[in-house]
Amino acid sequence: GEMSGGCPFHGSSEMRNLLGRTNRDWWPEALQLDILTEGGRSANPYGEDFDYAEAFNALDYTALKADLTALMTDSQPWWPADYGHYGPFFIRMAWHAAGTYRTGDGRGGAGSGQQRFAPLNSWPDNGNLDKARRLLWPIKQKYGKNISWADLFILAGNVAIESMGGPVFGFGGGRADVYEPESVYWGTEEQWVNEGVATRIQPKEGKALENPLAAIQMGLIYVNPEGPQGDPHDAEGMARDMRETFARMAMNDEETVALTAGGHAFGKAHGAAPADTFGGAPESEALELMGFGWLNDEAEIAAGNITTSGIEGAWTPNPTEWGNDYFRLLFKYDYKLVKSPAGAFQWEPINPDPEDMAPDARDPSKKVPTMMTTADMALKRDPEYRKISEKFLNDQAALDDAFARAWFKLCHRDMGPKIRYMGPEVPAEDLIWQDPVPPGRPASDAEVARFKAAILGSGLSVSELVKAAWASASTYRNSDHRGGANGARVRLTPQNGWAANDPDELSRVLGVIEQHRGELSMADAIVLAGSAAVEKAAKDAGFDVTVPFMGGRGDATEEHTDAASFEPLEPFADGFRNYLRTKADVRTEEMLIDKAHLLGLSIPEMTVLVGGMRVLGANSGNRKHGVFTDNVGVLTPDFFRNLLDMGTKWAPVDGSGDEEYVGTCRATGAEKYRATRADLVFGSNSMLRAQAEVYAEAGAESKFVCDFISAWNKVMNADRFDVTCAKYH
Ligand code: HEM
Repeated sequence: GEMSGGCPFHGSSEMRNLLGRTNRDWWPEALQLDILTEGGRSANPYGEDFDYAEAFNALDYTALKADLTALMTDSQPWWPADYGHYGPFFIRMAWHAAGTYRTGDGRGGAGSGQQRFAPLNSWPDNGNLDKARRLLWPIKQKYGKNISWADLFILAGNVAIESMGGPVFGFGGGRADVYEPESVYWGTEEQWVNEGVATRIQPKEGKALENPLAAIQMGLIYVNPEGPQGDPHDAEGMARDMRETFARMAMNDEETVALTAGGHAFGKAHGAAPADTFGGAPESEALELMGFGWLNDEAEIAAGNITTSGIEGAWTPNPTEWGNDYFRLLFKYDYKLVKSPAGAFQWEPINPDPEDMAPDARDPSKKVPTMMTTADMALKRDPEYRKISEKFLNDQAALDDAFARAWFKLCHRDMGPKIRYMGPEVPAEDLIWQDPVPPGRPASDAEVARFKAAILGSGLSVSELVKAAWASASTYRNSDHRGGANGARVRLTPQNGWAANDPDELSRVLGVIEQHRGELSMADAIVLAGSAAVEKAAKDAGFDVTVPFMGGRGDATEEHTDAASFEPLEPFADGFRNYLRTKADVRTEEMLIDKAHLLGLSIPEMTVLVGGMRVLGANSGNRKHGVFTDNVGVLTPDFFRNLLDMGTKWAPVDGSGDEEYVGTCRATGAEKYRATRADLVFGSNSMLRAQAEVYAEAGAESKFVCDFISAWNKVMNADRFDVTCAKYH
C-alpha cells in the first residue's frame, strides 16, 4: 500500500460524498424500504434481544455439516452442478463474501451476510452467485436462527474444500446477519466494470488506488481476470494490481499465490455463451424472477451454455479434487492467448497431453482444454510470485498449509478477537492477525479507589488523562472489531507515534500512569485514569457521579502485535479531538460521522461526546478550536450554549480552505472563538442542531453529564468481547 500513502480519505483529486455512489444511485427504480426504518425502527425481525452466539451454540453443528456435504452432490435441475459437484461454486461464493474486506476502514467482509443485498448481490463479479445462495436455502430454512446466512456462506466454502479433499484450518462461527444493506463506500464511478469504467491504478498518470478501496474497478472483488483494463499483455500491471488489492485485504505475496492457486485447483470459469445472452442483475430484474438475475434460460443452463465471467474452462484436469495440478500445468506448458466463446481473453496450454485435458462440465466422457486467466499467469510471469509458485510446485505440504491458513484468515479477518469465534472447529493456535491480548484480571474496588485518588493527585490534568484514554480506546472499529483499549497497544509502535495522539504528551502521561498503576494492567489503568478525570470534571460542575468501570483488560506486548497491520487504524481525521491530518477529499464533518459509525455511536452519543470532549480540553495538539468555555476541564454544556449563541457571528479564516472559522462578537466585532467544521456542523446541520439544542437548554446540565458518561463508557468498553463473549466458552 505504499503507492497510496494509506490515507482513507485521500486518493482522488476531487471532493466526494462519504458514501460515493449508493444503491439509490444504481437502482433508482428499486423498492425503497427505508421509510419503514425511520424513527429507529429496526429491520431485524429477531429484535434487539436476539443473541446469535447463544443460538449458534445450540446448533447441531455435525448434522449441519453432514447436510452441507450431501448438498454438494445433490444437483438441481434449475442449476445443475458442474461435474456433479457444487463445491467449487460454493468456494467462489464464500471467497467473494469474504473478499470485500479491506484493511483501510475494516469494512466489507463476510461478517454480516451482505452478499444477500445490493449492491453486492448485483455486482458483475458476483454473477450467478444468486444461484449458489439459493441452493443453500433448504439448509438455511432447516436450521433457522441457529445458523446465520453469513456463517453459512463461509461454512459452505469450508465444507466444499473438505469434501473435495482440500486442507482446512478451522471454522469459527458467530457472524450475525443484518437485514438491510450496510452503507459502505465502494467508489464514485457511475459505471460497472463491464461497462468500460477506467481502472483505478494508472501509475503513468500518477493515479494510485484510492483508499480504502480494494478493487481495481467498480463491481469487482479485486482485479480484472483478463488483465489491467482487459489487456492480457500487461503482465507487470496484472501483478501490480493483484499485489495492491490483496495487500488491501491484508494478504502478502505468499498468501496471494496460495489462495489464488488453491482456489483455482477447483471448478471452472464460465464463458460458453455470448455475453449478450443474459439479463440484468438481480436488483433490477423482473418481479417474477424472484430475486434471480443474469441467466435464466433453463434450456441453455441445462446444456451448460453458461456465461458468468466470460472466461471458459477449468484450470486442471481434476476440477473437483484437491491437488497440485494447477502448478503442475502452469509450469509444464507454455500458454497461448485465445478468446473464449464469450469473447474474453484467456490462456490455453500449447499441445496438452490427453491426460492434462479437463472433463466437460456436463459430459465427463468429453475432454476439453484447460485454461489460465491472465491473473493466473501472473503467478508465473511475475518474478516474486514465480519464486513462491515454484516452491509450491515442489512442495505439496507447503501449499496445503499455506492455502489452509490463508483461507482461514480470508474468512475470519473481519471477526476481531478470537473470543468472538464460536463452535467446535475453532483452531487452538493463536494467530498474530487476531491481535491476541493476554488475559487480564478483575480489579478490586480498593485498588480502583486507590488508583483514582493517586492519579488525580499526580499533577496530570483532566485534559491529559481524558486524551490518553481516548487515544487508547478510540481505535476501535465496529467494522472488523479491531482496535480498542484492551491490550494497551496505545503504548506500542505505531500508535504511540501517531500525530493525533500527541506522542510526547502521551508518553509522559503513560509514564505517570505506569508509576501509579500498582497491580492494574496498563490497559485498565489508562481507561480508569480517564474515568477518574471525567468524574472530577463532573464534580467540578456540581455532579457527584461515578463513572462505571469494568476491569479485566490485559496488556499486549510487541510480540503479540503486528505493528504494520495497525497502520490503517491511524486516524486521518478525528472530529472528537478536532484532529485533521490534512484537508481531504471528503468533508471533515463527514469524517466525524464516519468515525462515529466505526465506534458504533448513535447521533446523540456522537453529539454529547463532541460537546463534552471540547470542554474537557481533549483536542489534539491542545488546539483551542471548539473549546467554547472559560472553565476547561469542567463538564458543562458550554460548548452547545456558546455554539448556538446568536451573539457570535462566524466566518471562514482566509487561506484555511474552509477548515478554520473565527467567531466574533456580533456587537463589538471582537474575536471570541475559533472553530473547525467538526464544531460548526452542530450549529449548521439541521439534525445536529436539533441535538445541540437539547444540551443547551436550561436544566439540561445533569442530562448532559449522564449522557456524556454513558457515551464515554460505550467507547471505553467497545472492545470488551472478553466480557461479552466469555459466557459462550
Ligand atoms: C472462478 C478470477 C482468486 C476461487 C473464477 C473465475 C474467475 C476468477 C474469472 C470464473 C468465474 C466464472 O466465470 O464462473 C479470479 C481472480 C482471482 C481469483 C482474478 C485473484 C487474482 C480466487 C481465490 C479463490 C478463488 C482467492 C479462493 C480461494 C475460485 C473458484 C472458482 C473461481 C473455486 C470456480 C467457481 C466455479 O467453478 O463455479 N475466479 N479468482 N479465486 N475462483 Fe477465482
